[in-house]
Amino acid sequence: MPQHTQSDTHQQSIVIFDHPLIAHKMATIRNTNTGHRTFRAALSQIAGLMVYEVTRSLPTEHINIETPTQTTARCTVLAGTITIVPVLRAGLGMIDGILDVMPEARIGHLGLARDEQTLEPHAYLNKLPADLDTGPVILVDPMLATGGSASAALTMLRQAGADDIRMICLVAAPEGINRLKADHPEVTLYAAALDERLNEKGYIMPGLGDAGDRMYGTV
Ligand code: PRP
Ligand code: URA
Repeated sequence: MPQHTQSDTHQQSIVIFDHPLIAHKMATIRNTNTGHRTFRAALSQIAGLMVYEVTRSLPTEHINIETPTQTTARCTVLAGTITIVPVLRAGLGMIDGILDVMPEARIGHLGLARDEQTLEPHAYLNKLPADLDTGPVILVDPMLATGGSASAALTMLRQAGADDIRMICLVAAPEGINRLKADHPEVTLYAAALDERLNEKGYIMPGLGDAGDRMYGTV
């Protein structure tokens, strides 16, 4: 069962997963000896496993359908158009696992690169559907470190009209969670793991290193 926490001073919900299969695959991607092929596969699978819980609160509607034995039956289906938005590069690695279980979703793209000295995000791509307000938006990025990239991405989604937003990350640092609580308290955050802290270079400890580099073999 995922652990839900709610801050006293903010509305934001944080959901930290506590599941043996997800924990097992997290051990694989944390391991420095895991190569990029296995890393990519496990990261995508973890994202797919998390979707089941993340989509629990999605809006639904009722429709009547014809079954082989009855003219109409009342069924529940997802309402609105679901948009998944990966933060490039590393967020792209979560898309396939999510689309396996939610193939009807559409994809927007945000490109953000963190400056290694200042740790400030630099936006280089914004390719989002025009009508983001027509359904839920799920922002995906495996790493929430200082929270600067996630906060900037959420601001870009808001400016583009999104009003029902959730975020999925794999590894969250307390610093990133605090940043999102301050900047975007209405966004529910789902994380596969909550780690201890950031090191002096802004990397998550124990973390998994640079997710984009490990995924694409650019270490
Ligand atoms: C990583 C990660 C996040 C960001 C997190 O991307 O995927 O986007 O860092 O750090 P923050 O919370 O301190 O902003 P990076 O900028 O390294 O780009 P990449 O995915 O292209 O490697
Ligand atoms: N970005 C990463 O890819 N890893 C970290 O630990 C922090 C930021």
